[in-house]
Amino acid sequence: MIRSVVRGFGAALPKRVVTNQELESKVDTSDEWIVQRTGIRQRYIAGEGETTASLGEGAARAALANAGLTPDDIDLIILATSTPDNTFPATAVNIQDRLGMRHGAAFDMQAVCSGFVYAVTTADAYIRGGLAKRVLVIGSETFSRILDWNDRTTCVLFGDGAGAIILEAQEGEGTIADRGVLTAKLRSDGAHRDKLYVDGGPSTTGTVGHLKMEGREVFKHAVGMITDVIEAAFEATGTTAEDLDWLVPHQANRRIIDGSAKKLGIPLDKVVVTVDLHGNTSAASIPLALNAAAGDGRIKKGDLVLLEAMGGGFTWGSVLLRW
Ligand code: ACO
Repeated sequence: MIRSVVRGFGAALPKRVVTNQELESKVDTSDEWIVQRTGIRQRYIAGEGETTASLGEGAARAALANAGLTPDDIDLIILATSTPDNTFPATAVNIQDRLGMRHGAAFDMQAVCSGFVYAVTTADAYIRGGLAKRVLVIGSETFSRILDWNDRTTCVLFGDGAGAIILEAQEGEGTIADRGVLTAKLRSDGAHRDKLYVDGGPSTTGTVGHLKMEGREVFKHAVGMITDVIEAAFEATGTTAEDLDWLVPHQANRRIIDGSAKKLGIPLDKVVVTVDLHGNTSAASIPLALNAAAGDGRIKKGDLVLLEAMGGGFTWGSVLLRW
């Protein structure tokens, strides 16, 4: 049985760090409020010349180096983003060009904060279907460019950055002892679109628009939706919370992360948290967290790792994999 096994990982962050204290001078907020409600202490914000494509390229190059591969070894790039460099061409194609890749295919995938989970699931389907051997899966975002910097209810929450993994086709036994993606569960429900959206777009206003969010409404749905797809992943594989080595959640809010872990009976020392350092980087948050935890040796080869995310749409999903 073909499995999609993680061959490498990497990340890239903008140069500039913006602390909560710095935001206190821009909007009516406080470090105490932000930390207490979200767990965020700082975020990285893209400066001149830093874009979703440039950060994505940085993460891709780091993942290739980590894997000991070159762009020639990749046959598909999937970029999860809601903040593309241009409406078209796809930013994935821009990254393909920056990598000097003149073969294969590249496309963007848009599921907001669930984007990376959607992209890994899609890459796994391509690999298991025999359509690709090695897929570069990137999550890259510049949410700072769609924020209303006068709206304190949203501008303190988000950050910019990129992370990437390389998935490679390898033969497995077809059991949960195999390395690679074991199962994935994706969900969406467009009835919730008004709770988290961008009020612009090429087909409506002709503008880029700004992010709008009913934070309390998103919060209300988050834990239930996350636990739903995690329980579905456990059920599909006959695993339980006790089998997990690591939960790597989308990093939106410390309270959502802790609430979901508690509801599922996952101890907090098995949860990777980077929201304090990066803020909510949407589709980049999971690969940034994977890069941190695999990079410092917490996540090791053979560990059972659960990814989960929930975001605009709403979209939500989980991926259970053996690292
Ligand atoms: N600083 C100080 N005060 C603030 C700030 C701020 N930055 N923002 C809001 N407040 C005030 C509000 O005005 C309100 O004041 P009031 O009581 O006088 O009206 C008070 O704080 C409480 O506001 P709430 O919105 O009720 O605060 P809450 O505890 O719900 O926290 C938060 C807000 C952090 C946004 C929370 O609701 C949340 O995390 N929601 C989920 C958001 C999320 O995860 N979004 C990402 C999904 S992923 C994606 O797809 C992009």
